[in-house]
Amino acid sequence: MRIFSGIQPTGRKHLGNYIGAIRHYVEGQERTHTAGDLAIYCIVDLHATTVPYEPAVLRERLYDTAAILLASGLDPDRCVFFRQGDVLEHAELCWLLSSVTAHGDLNRMHQFKEKSAAQRELVSAGLFLYPVLQAADVLAYRATEVPVGEDQRQHIELMRDIADRFNARFGAGREVLVAPGHRIPEIGAKIMDLQEPAKKMSTTGGSGEGTLYVLDDPATIEKKFKRAVTDSENEIRRGPDKPGVTNLIDILAVCRGVTPDEVVASLADARGYGDLKAAVAAGVIELLTPVRERYEALRADEAHLEGVLGRGADRASAIAADTLADVRRAMGVGPVV
Ligand code: AMP
Ligand code: TRP
Repeated sequence: MRIFSGIQPTGRKHLGNYIGAIRHYVEGQERTHTAGDLAIYCIVDLHATTVPYEPAVLRERLYDTAAILLASGLDPDRCVFFRQGDVLEHAELCWLLSSVTAHGDLNRMHQFKEKSAAQRELVSAGLFLYPVLQAADVLAYRATEVPVGEDQRQHIELMRDIADRFNARFGAGREVLVAPGHRIPEIGAKIMDLQEPAKKMSTTGGSGEGTLYVLDDPATIEKKFKRAVTDSENEIRRGPDKPGVTNLIDILAVCRGVTPDEVVASLADARGYGDLKAAVAAGVIELLTPVRERYEALRADEAHLEGVLGRGADRASAIAADTLADVRRAMGVGPVV
């Protein structure tokens, strides 16, 4: 088993990132016991350049994100943890894979449609190629599983197609690249905005009040859940007609490590949504407090973060260089080796 996932160093990481992705990175790292198993996690700074940004802010956010991941439990001795821009093979493989990627497929990507519609000045070619770079991230390591939230499903399906098309076109009967599977959690793959529960929680687009950040303090967490939008009934159950309440039940289920049905059963005597909100706030405070407490010390030491990322990049490069040599050979590109 080889796990790979990437996370953008943009904005502040929120509860959706934590529940949908970050905690599964840590869980993946715990599952790689057997020799040959490896979990690889990457902060994707190259992806962050596809929309307008400030270079100095990107560096700050990169350290913020690195510190959050380490505070959440990523252990650089038990996984490969690095920055995308340090490993040049990602950009090269992106270019090479673009030859087996259909323009029409890229045009159909939901994220491209949403993000390009949101740009006022420039829709960059980078935004269009974003999913090819993402495919390169994963395929460079011949990863077999990719833990992500629901919004990345289409990108993972595309990278499977790219791997298959590459092998069919250039593999000469060999599986040069590996088509990975996604690992999307059953509960918590799409955490919704607390103020607009029909929309997913996100850094951009979401309302400030409706986005709960990993680093929010307990008082802020209580306030945001107290004000969370529910509905005019008084019935604690899941359902498509009750997006706000469903979201709260799912979040609490994740915090407690139980099923949503068990959460509903445990609240059978609740007096109303107030009890549900108080329980979710308590659960989330318990979930995030250790992360917040570890974060400050980690974030303060940028030299340490650089050291960790640098060592990760060395390990990542060794694997990616090996794949790139095979890809170049298969494609007839570069010197004969
Ligand atoms: P990003 O910060 O966009 O790089 O996202 C990092 C990870 O968080 C990806 O695997 C996303 O699928 C996941 N993610 C983002 N938003 C949410 C959400 N609202 N609920 C669950 N997972 C999410
Ligand atoms: N596009 C992903 C997101 O927005 C981030 C990402 C980049 C990624 N490369 C990846 C996720 C490779 C999984 C695997 O969340």
